[in-house]
Amino acid sequence: MKAWRVRFLYFLVLNAAVQYVTSLEEELANSISGSFLDPLRDLFDPKDDKNQTTAKFSLRKPSHPDDDLCYIFPGNPDSLTACTFNSTSKTFLVIHGWTVSGLFESWVAKLVSALYEREQTANVIVVDWLYSAQNHYGVAAQNTKAVGQEVARFIDWIKETTNMPLENLHLIGYSLGAHVAGFAGSHATNKVGRITGLDPAGPDFEGEHAHGRLSPDDADFVDVLHTFTRGTLGFSIGIQQPVGHVDIYPNGGSYQPGCNLRGALKKIANLGIFAITDAVKCEHERSIHLFIDSLLNEQEAGKAYRCSNSDTFNRGMCLSCRKSRCNAVGYGISKVRRARNVQMFTNTRASMPFRVYHYQLKIHFLSNVDHSEMEPSLTVSLYGTKAEADNLELKLKEKIATNKTQSFLLATEKDIGDLLMLKFKWEQTNGWSASNMLKMVSSLWSGDSENTDVKVHKIRIRAGETQKKMVFCVKDTKAQDLRSQEVTFVKCKDSWRSNSKRSTKRITLENH
Ligand SMILES: *[C@@H]1O[C@H](CO)[C@@H](O)[C@H](O)[C@H]1NC(C)=O
Ligand SMILES: *[C@@H]1O[C@H](CO)[C@@H](O)[C@H](O)[C@H]1NC(C)=O
Ligand SMILES: *[C@@H]1O[C@H](CO)[C@@H](O)[C@H](O)[C@H]1NC(C)=O
Repeated sequence: MKAWRVRFLYFLVLNAAVQYVTSLEEELANSISGSFLDPLRDLFDPKDDKNQTTAKFSLRKPSHPDDDLCYIFPGNPDSLTACTFNSTSKTFLVIHGWTVSGLFESWVAKLVSALYEREQTANVIVVDWLYSAQNHYGVAAQNTKAVGQEVARFIDWIKETTNMPLENLHLIGYSLGAHVAGFAGSHATNKVGRITGLDPAGPDFEGEHAHGRLSPDDADFVDVLHTFTRGTLGFSIGIQQPVGHVDIYPNGGSYQPGCNLRGALKKIANLGIFAITDAVKCEHERSIHLFIDSLLNEQEAGKAYRCSNSDTFNRGMCLSCRKSRCNAVGYGISKVRRARNVQMFTNTRASMPFRVYHYQLKIHFLSNVDHSEMEPSLTVSLYGTKAEADNLELKLKEKIATNKTQSFLLATEKDIGDLLMLKFKWEQTNGWSASNMLKMVSSLWSGDSENTDVKVHKIRIRAGETQKKMVFCVKDTKAQDLRSQEVTFVKCKDSWRSNSKRSTKRITLENH
C-alpha cells in the first residue's frame, strides 16, 4: 500500500471521527493499532510477499550516523572486515518499530550518533526490517517473531565468527522493535548481555505470555522505559505491564510534559492529522529521547525510584535509595535483578536534559478543629544555595486531614543546591485562613506538643537526588504577616534534636 494512500485514509477517517467523537483519544488509539483499517484492507492491493522477513544489518559510521554505507551479511565474514567490525568493543543493535512511511525515522540517526558519542569504539548496527514493518500494524506485530529469529541467527553467527563476548552485546528496540529484540534474545543460542526496551508496543502484546513478548528471560539484563502507556479500554500504545528486570515509568508512564496530546486533540479540527500524530509520536518517542539524553548527559542522568505505583510516588513516598531502591534512568542504569520485576518512577522536564530534582515534604497538620473539608491551593518556593525554584504547585491528592502526617512530592527543574528556606503561599478557600495554616502546620516530632501555647511547626524534607534529610521550622512565628498568606520555613535550630530518637523511629515506620 502506498504511503500517501495510507496517510490520506488516516486523514479522512480521523477527520470524520472528529464530528461525533465522545472519545477522540479512542479513535486515535484505534487508528494507531491499524485495526480499524482492517475492514478497508481489501480496497488496497495486499502486499504479495508480506511474509518476507528479511532483516538487513547496517554498521553505521560515527561520521555518517544517517547513512547505510556498509552492510554485514551473515555467513560472509569478509563483510565484517569490510565494515571494520571491532570484535573487542561493545556492539549495539538498534531496532526500529512499526512504520507507515517505510523510511527510517529521524531518531535513528540521533540515537546512533549519541551511542558513538558515549562509546567511541563501539559497533552500532541498525537492524533494518522496514520491509516487514511497513504493513498493517497487526501484520507487522506478527512479523516481529520471524524478524527476531533472524536477528538471533545473526547474533549466533557473529558470536561464532568473531568470538565476541555476548555480554558486550546490547539490543535497543523501540516499540515493536522492543519485541523483536525480545524474540532475538530468546532465540539466540547464548544469552545476550542487555536489552533495552523503549516504550515496547502494547497492542497484541499486552497480557501475552513471557515467550510471546519482551521479557526478563530474553537477556542477562532487560531494562524498559514506558512513556505512553495510557490505557483506554485496556488499550495502550506502549505496553503497560512490566516486561523487564527494571521497568521505569517516567511521569507515571502516561502523559509526557511538553507533548500536549490533549491540546493536539483539540487542534485536530484545524490542523488535521498532523497535530495528532505529532503528539502521539512525542509521547511514544519520548522513551528514545530520554535514552539519548542519558547517553549524552552522563553527569546529569535522572534518577528513578522504586515504588509500588504512580500515586504513591506522586505523594513523595518513594525517594529512598537504600538497598538499590533508586537507579539511573537510561544507559547508565545499574543491573538490578530480583526475583520479581522492579517498577520505578521518575519525573522529567519537557526537554533535554530531562532530569529533575525530587523532594518529599512531610507535613503534619495539627489542629483542634476538624478541617477535613479543606482543600486549599498551595504553592511552595524553594530557596537553595545555588538557585531558587518558585511557585511549585503542591498537589493535594486528597483533602487535608488534621492530625495526620501528609506527604507530598515536589520536583524542581533546576539544581537549587542545598535547601535553605521554603515559602508557602496559599489561596484562601473556604475555611482556610492564614492563622489556620499556622496552627495546622505542625509536627509530631515537636518536643513541645504538650505546651499548646508554644507550637513548633515543622516540615520534614527528603531530597531524592542527594538523599539528604532536613527539618524545617516556621521562621519566627510572631513575625509572620498572616495577611500576606505566606509562611516561611527555615532550617530548624538544634532544639529538635532532643527528640531525635523518637523522630528516627517514626521515619523508619513511615518509610516505604
Ligand atoms: C509464510 O512463510 C511460511 C514459512 O516460510 C509459510 O509456511 C507460509 O505459508 C507463508 N505464508 C504466506 C501467506 O505466504
Ligand atoms: C577496538 O576496540 C577496543 C576496545 O573497545 C579498542 O581498544 C581498539 O582500539 C579498537 N580497535 C580499533 C581498530 O579501533
Ligand atoms: C488533634 O490532636 C490534638 C493534640 O493531640 C488534639 O487536641 C485535637 O483535638 C486533635 N484534633 C482533632 C480534630 O482530632
